[in-house]
Amino acid sequence: MFDIKYIEEVDSTNITLWELLKNGEPVEGTVILSDYQHHGRGQQGNSWHSEKSLNLLASVFLKPEILPVDYHFYLSKIVSLGIIDALKHYGITPRIKWPNDILVDKQKICGILIENTLEGSIIKQTVAGIGMNVNQTGFPDYLPNATSIYNQINGLTDIADLLRDILKKIWMYYTELKQNSFELIDELYRNNLFGYYSWLTYIDKTGTFRGQIIGARADGALRIRKENGEVHQYYFKEVEWLNSECP
Ligand code: BTN
Repeated sequence: MFDIKYIEEVDSTNITLWELLKNGEPVEGTVILSDYQHHGRGQQGNSWHSEKSLNLLASVFLKPEILPVDYHFYLSKIVSLGIIDALKHYGITPRIKWPNDILVDKQKICGILIENTLEGSIIKQTVAGIGMNVNQTGFPDYLPNATSIYNQINGLTDIADLLRDILKKIWMYYTELKQNSFELIDELYRNNLFGYYSWLTYIDKTGTFRGQIIGARADGALRIRKENGEVHQYYFKEVEWLNSECP
């Protein structure tokens, strides 16, 4: 199912996987796992910080083949659900923060970076990068809202075991996706989505407002119902939750 290739240090596990893809396609399920990234990539051109050997840094190659590009967010949904399921087994209660973060309480434990190539309007290749804080206990000042498994359960976790648990779960949801189980995936996603159906304060280009997340569309847009009943769709960075309050 998965073929895990360990490389001690890389620029970025996503980049290593794309390079493998350029030099002839590896089999679906090829995974690059590393202890250290010199140029770990985050969303929106950000970098990803991780101390050497303490965290999970991995990228998974998938070939969804029949998934249209405007359904691309289902890949994020199944990867997020796999991570959530695995973390629950470690005694953690995580939630998905749209679009690509996993939180525990209000702190970030994991980030996901999904990159795709297209053939026409169909997703041809997917590299799903997962950066999870596992055994790191302290974080730089510019990451005040980071946490790790260690900080949550006060104990060390075997990173290779954790990766295998996550991959197993991702594969389970990926199989559902290939069988077009969109409603099941949507329901599980909503059940694990931070802020789902809670009245919270958000900010968009018109200012702050109270709203209720009611789901995320196949193309990734977040759906928020405002107090006047109108439902708005937001793409990444178009809306932000004001995190001074508890959901
Ligand atoms: C984010 O929250 O900004 C996404 C972070 C994704 C980080 C992971 S670490 C493994 C993989 N390789 C990368 O260069 N990035 C992803």
